[in-house]
Amino acid sequence: MSLFLECVNGQSVERPPIWFMRQAGRYLSEYRNTRKKAGSFLDLCYNSELATEVTLQPIDRFGFDAAILFADILLILDALGVKVQFIEGQGPLLEPVKNKKDIERISNLEQIHEKLFPVYETVKKLKKHLPKDVPLIGFAGAPWTLATYLINGKGEQGSLTAKKFLIENNDEFEKIINLLTDATIDYLIMQIKSGADVIKIFDSWAGALNADMVLRYSLNPIKKIVSEIKKRHPKIPFIVFPRSVNTIYSNFSNEECFDVLAVDQFLDRKWIAKKIQPKKIIQGNLDPIFLTQSKKVLFQELKKVTEDFKSHPYVFNLGHGITPDAKVENVELVVDYIKGIKF
Ligand code: CP3
Repeated sequence: MSLFLECVNGQSVERPPIWFMRQAGRYLSEYRNTRKKAGSFLDLCYNSELATEVTLQPIDRFGFDAAILFADILLILDALGVKVQFIEGQGPLLEPVKNKKDIERISNLEQIHEKLFPVYETVKKLKKHLPKDVPLIGFAGAPWTLATYLINGKGEQGSLTAKKFLIENNDEFEKIINLLTDATIDYLIMQIKSGADVIKIFDSWAGALNADMVLRYSLNPIKKIVSEIKKRHPKIPFIVFPRSVNTIYSNFSNEECFDVLAVDQFLDRKWIAKKIQPKKIIQGNLDPIFLTQSKKVLFQELKKVTEDFKSHPYVFNLGHGITPDAKVENVELVVDYIKGIKF
């Protein structure tokens, strides 16, 4: 078994495994070249040849301990029949879903696999090309985060449009959450059948919800997805990332079916070490901003993170995705440092 799989399965490991959220991306010149070849970002996601290529780039360059499938959380909305575009310099733009009729229009789950077929092809290709000791992480967005893009038509700080919709149109909102939960179960099962070794669920906007809403619309749907899939694939580990949910992380850590909790950079590491690590393997939480800084500043922070988390096994990662202005030599420094640790 690989170091990464041993760690996420709760076995003892000699050092923390390392990979980065968004490790394939614009901070790499080879990514920018392939991206140009592909045309649009969506064309890249749906081109299994090129998506395989960019997934492998950070593995070849840095020797990360795990690869993450190159795709996007919004592809499933595209596959459900919502028009999705990625506008250069602005991010995603979607046709918002506002009422019962719109919801009905996107309720046919059977249609998703045809559109998502290239993603499954990418997974199969990667399983052929990845080194045997580098497992593949498949992923999906959590229903709430997908719903924020679906309802508002784009990302929004605080997700207020989706939050108002949740309160004012609760029946429709719940229909959307249930639909996205079911679609995500089908999508992830196909990724697993195609060869994904581990699954990560991104709830990037979970922090916009109040505590009671987080439990109902972030934790519960994720729990349903994980427990349904584990009935059929009990050995697949799940990494759950409820970003910025603060002390509600402790509710997530009580859920047996979640194997790893990804922690953001805003949490107090001493609190994580005391309250979360005894119950769950964690993954995180270097602030990606340090990858844009001097080696000295980065090194100081790196020492703090590894010192604070050292009493239990953990997966080294960032608190959120790597940014386009991250320095390649800083990524190298972090990988070398982590590979030199001995528990
Ligand atoms: O390397 C990897 O991590 C795998 C690929 C991956 C991407 N997006 C590629 C991508 C993964 C796992 C994601 C997840 C994703 N996508 C999330 C959850 C994680 C998070 O960051 O909170 C979200 C919210 C999205 C939606 C999304 N995709 C946004 C908001 C944007 C625009 C913002 C930006 O960074 O430009 C994207 C585009 C996107 N997804 C890029 C990449 C490499 C950049 C697009 C480009 O090349 O122009």
